[in-house]
Amino acid sequence: MAGARIQAPAFIFSVPPQKRTIKMAVTTQQLTKWKQQGRSIVVLTAWDYGIAQLLDEAGVDVILVGDSMAMVALGYQTTLPVTLEEMLHHAAAVRRGVNQALVVCDLPFLSYQESSSQAIHSAGRALKEAGVQAVKLEGGNPAIASSVAQLTQVGIPVMGHVGLTPQSVHQLGYRRQGKTTDAAERIWEEAITLSEAGAFAVILEHIPPELAAQITAKLPIPTIGIGAGADCDGQVLVTADLLGLSQKQPPFAKSYANLRQVITEAAQDFASEVRQHQFPEGD
Ligand code: KIV
Repeated sequence: MAGARIQAPAFIFSVPPQKRTIKMAVTTQQLTKWKQQGRSIVVLTAWDYGIAQLLDEAGVDVILVGDSMAMVALGYQTTLPVTLEEMLHHAAAVRRGVNQALVVCDLPFLSYQESSSQAIHSAGRALKEAGVQAVKLEGGNPAIASSVAQLTQVGIPVMGHVGLTPQSVHQLGYRRQGKTTDAAERIWEEAITLSEAGAFAVILEHIPPELAAQITAKLPIPTIGIGAGADCDGQVLVTADLLGLSQKQPPFAKSYANLRQVITEAAQDFASEVRQHQFPEGD
């Protein structure tokens, strides 16, 4: 009918405009702003879709597909055996579960140390195939810093990782790093070099809190601590430790739940009901 107005469907108006909140996805620039504002950054690891979805809905800022997945999800003794293919497979699943958090994928052992072009190839696959927004690599020697510079030049954001670097377990063990003046100076240099190379953040793992505080005060980019004291710009935990799923966890980790017990009891209750013909209940 000429002149009649088309009615918009009611659902468009089901949420009053003033109540609609659009939460922006976390970016690397946002993390730098949070450092400047003194707002602590929350980082957790994930290795599958379901966990990633829950962490994202809980408001975690950064979800790291850490290569600790090799140990906590794949049952390896160290992080060394996990492959780039395995990391990409899990990173893609994590990415599908996340709307807000920044998703960072660890580059696994020997997928970036050979050359900068190997690093660009591996990191590029993480962005193109798994859809993550950034990669993390371990160490801060000149060769790694040069790869970080080249990655950032081609538009791939990089998170650094110094101190205890588990991919070097056969050199460092799992001991606290940076306990001597020389060792502390080396970690300090590495963190500064990574920042100058263009890293957007750096993980400080298992180093003295005073050293972590000094690095945090010096760097323009955020530091994310794990076993590095309270003065970092953010904190990260391996989610298996957070949930009490790990068989063994480092002394600096804290469990906020005991899912080993919850899962064991649920499986035992199910087994008992099946064996006693209590489940399923008859019609
Ligand atoms: O692989 C991992 O989970 C990590 C965190 C411990 C920072 O690198």
